[in-house]
Amino acid sequence: MRAQAFTVGRIGLTLAGLLAVIAGAIASDRPARLAADAPGSAPIAAPTFTRDVAPILFRYCATCHRPGEVAPMSLLSFEEVRPWAKAIKAKVVAREMPPWFADPAASMKLRNERRLSETDIDTVAAWVDAGAPRGEDAHLPTPPVFPAGWQNGTPDYVIEMPVDVELPAEGEIEIQDFFVPVPFPTDRFAQVLEFRPGTPGVLHHGGAYMVDLPAGTRLVNGRALGPDGRQLRRDEIRGRGESVFETQGASKLISFHPGQGIERHPPGVAKRIAAGKFVHFNMHYQPTGRPEHDRTKLGIWFAKDRVTHEVLTQTVSQHFIIEGREAPLDVIMVNGEPKYTELIPLIPPFVGNWRMAAVRTFRTPATLYGLSPHMHLRGKDAKYVVAFPDGRIETVLTIPRYDFNWQLHDELETPLKIPAGSVMLGVAHFDNSVGNRYNPGPEKRVFWSDQSWDEMLLLHIEISVDDQILPSAQP
Ligand code: HEC
Repeated sequence: MRAQAFTVGRIGLTLAGLLAVIAGAIASDRPARLAADAPGSAPIAAPTFTRDVAPILFRYCATCHRPGEVAPMSLLSFEEVRPWAKAIKAKVVAREMPPWFADPAASMKLRNERRLSETDIDTVAAWVDAGAPRGEDAHLPTPPVFPAGWQNGTPDYVIEMPVDVELPAEGEIEIQDFFVPVPFPTDRFAQVLEFRPGTPGVLHHGGAYMVDLPAGTRLVNGRALGPDGRQLRRDEIRGRGESVFETQGASKLISFHPGQGIERHPPGVAKRIAAGKFVHFNMHYQPTGRPEHDRTKLGIWFAKDRVTHEVLTQTVSQHFIIEGREAPLDVIMVNGEPKYTELIPLIPPFVGNWRMAAVRTFRTPATLYGLSPHMHLRGKDAKYVVAFPDGRIETVLTIPRYDFNWQLHDELETPLKIPAGSVMLGVAHFDNSVGNRYNPGPEKRVFWSDQSWDEMLLLHIEISVDDQILPSAQP
């Protein structure tokens, strides 16, 4: 009897303990409570670095947080991670790290998603709250290995920046633009493109574009100089045809930031590298504390099969609707070159939630592959919606909190068919209030321009036009 009573008592205790653990597990402050409830005892459920946290950091952080990469510190070992534990928790809980801004609940499935699950976030938070314990070495997974060279093997062709650019150790580095004439006598088609910095860690982000240069431009060390010897402004070199639907030659070949520098297109679909144009390397360098240099390369793998469709980079901007008022933002021609102008002030001073929408009607059926919204320092959020001719409305991408520092490109897991007669709507908000800590001038009327103190709403999309069957496009 006594033994039985004792057993029941023990079971009772154990059940109570279990219930406490379950209740604790449901509450969000689980580890703090566990630690507080059981002072001195081994933290029963507290995650450890080696077993629980390292796999998350290796998978989601190490692309940037490793020696020689863009992030300020390496996160590959316990010794490196431990001093940053509190900062890691803060950044992860606020979803500022890893940089990934699409809301999965209001977006189509993205193939390059890099987003922590709620469970991962809870694990990191619980680990930090429990005092960031190390755990047993035996649990530690092998740290990730990153290929030093091309990720996709040896390219068929490499176009490299014409100079090895010298970069200062400190200070703000202005955006650098370099141009290389397309080296092919006829148009070629790229199935895969890879953008590879010559020196890891110096390039915060960048990209390669297809552009035309105005007549009379001279290239000197890759810099584009006008007839007067002055370096061309970026609005003078804009790729033609951004407002024309059936443009030949994708205006953007690829965008890069650490962990995202390769684009693969489905069979039969490719990017055109158009003869007679220029490859524009647009480079946003950041100082590393040491003098550096860089010569970035663009690797090209030509399409092996017949290419029937070409991927075009366009924007959702046939019309703009600003705070409910239609406002066609025109491209005017200056000396035969198209230019966006300061036709209308986009945003008045001191407004905190200025809505701007852009609309595009699809007159021909198209396929959508990816999206990359672009705004400047006042950009707050963005959303792309498609209204189909049958009345269905689908949200393709929602960026609830836009971050100018991260110009991300979101690739659809499954390309979206957009029938003729569909309308794509992009809606974004701008914060020109004093509450926006990045705002370079809340008292200003903001115009449309390339400068980051002005604004733009370029809701880029990568599409192909379905009934564009390229005649005899050779790879
Ligand atoms: C795509 C690259 C990239 C990825 C992936 C990434 N980071 Fe970062 N991280 C950066 C850069 C660049 C900075 C410095 C600039 C900034 O704060 O935005 C940074 C800053 C930080 C900081 C602040 C450091 C400081 O000086 O205060 C923390 C903490 C951090 N990252 C943690 C993480 C964690 C944890 C992950 C993974 C869950 C992660 N990061 C993933 C690039 C990245």
